Amino acid sequence: MNERDSETLAGMLEGMGYEYCPEFRDADVCVLNTCSVREHADKRFFGVLGQLKNPHEQYPGRITCVCGCMMQQQVHIDTLKAKYPWVDLVFGTHNIADFPKLFANVASERRKIVDVWKDAGPIAEGLPAKREYPFKAYVSIMQGCNNFCTYCIVPYTRGRERSRAPEQVLSEIRQLAASGTKEIMLLGQNVNSYAGVAGDDSGLQDLRAEFGLDPGARVTFPQLLRMIDRIEGIERVRFMTSHPKDLSDDLIRCFAELKHLCRQIHLPVQAGSDRVLKTMNRHYDSAHYMELIDKLRAACPDIAISTDIIVGFPGETEDDFMSTVELVRKVRYDSAFTFIYSVRKGTPAEKMTDQVPEEVKHQRFDRLLDVIHEIQEEKAAADQDALLPVLVEGFSKTDPDVLTGRTDSNKTVDLTVSQKTMDAYGIDRPGELIGRIIPVKIVKAQTFSLYGEAV
Ligand code: 5AD
Ligand code: SF4
Repeated sequence: MNERDSETLAGMLEGMGYEYCPEFRDADVCVLNTCSVREHADKRFFGVLGQLKNPHEQYPGRITCVCGCMMQQQVHIDTLKAKYPWVDLVFGTHNIADFPKLFANVASERRKIVDVWKDAGPIAEGLPAKREYPFKAYVSIMQGCNNFCTYCIVPYTRGRERSRAPEQVLSEIRQLAASGTKEIMLLGQNVNSYAGVAGDDSGLQDLRAEFGLDPGARVTFPQLLRMIDRIEGIERVRFMTSHPKDLSDDLIRCFAELKHLCRQIHLPVQAGSDRVLKTMNRHYDSAHYMELIDKLRAACPDIAISTDIIVGFPGETEDDFMSTVELVRKVRYDSAFTFIYSVRKGTPAEKMTDQVPEEVKHQRFDRLLDVIHEIQEEKAAADQDALLPVLVEGFSKTDPDVLTGRTDSNKTVDLTVSQKTMDAYGIDRPGELIGRIIPVKIVKAQTFSLYGEAV
């Protein structure tokens, strides 16, 4: 979500005539968009901001702006005021649309501005975006979160759930498709609770009768996916993130039915212990989660499943932790993001008295990682010799003769292109395949990466 917001900020700066500067220490304008989900992110922000101090003295004309989730917390604004006087502009997650105006005021009047809104307004539409790739794009469909998981800061920094109107989402994707985008990643803190309200915009006319979209009708996430699946030119659709408590049978059916929906889902479980899930306020238990996994695999047998797991949540016992390990072994994730519980100020879990000691958290984290890697290694072997469609994204960072891309299940593949294959495609250089989806034969399948040959 922050990356998507940064694309908007970059688009706005471009609109004001600025160019991207690869070395941030040399830039005339620095915008730091902060994440606050774990303490590590907070620390990194202050580290980077510290690095801007001296150049700021060297270049007094530099304008330093900070925004994002950290700025929604007064404690951080107070720290900035007290210790980082070189910050010129502070704004929050709810007033990104005002950035050009705020920036112009700071630049013309050379005064400092702090403008952070406590509450979110309606979602701003029509903002510019400078996207990283011409062939794949993030599309935000909703913002905010109503779930209040007890460990999580997001509901406090991003506000309550707001869904974009379906015609806005569809017209953005149609425009992207027209300019050559092939892959869309739909974004929301909890996409499953998307509830867009259809307007009377002509953008929906062709879909109106079929989907029963009278003005004012509520559109669910599966309905939105079905509409997106029709958009000419979009070959891959993914979404992130799904909350298990809201994963409907209708959405599961989409994996069986929709041509362009990638066979991949990120379904954060957070913990395998029912007691811990309850104190996390997740509103499901491990049996329900396993039922969802079974249904997903029944609908789409080769679906790739990834997850988020927190270890060391307050009160987590060795038995609780072993329930997480057991669940991981049962699900056999294709990949898992594991996090050590990090206390977030103002969340209910901050006040829980039974915090797990640091060394226990670290030790459990390492043990869990071993299990996840062992499973990934076994699963990776299944891709050996497979023929997989790959969206070629660019050149490998380590070898300029090698291309890199992603499979339908979002795995990274490094690939080579023989002269014979180039002749067959009628191209002179492998780079001409960037932005295309091509079949790739996997010749080496390793735990974290696949290697293949374009065929
Ligand atoms: N500590 C550790 N991990 C957290 N996450 C969210 N809040 C915390 C926290 N306080 C993790 C969750 C979420 C992911 C984006 O970050 O696993 O799914
Ligand atoms: Fe945080 Fe839970 Fe909302 Fe995800 S669903 S953003 S973990 S509160």
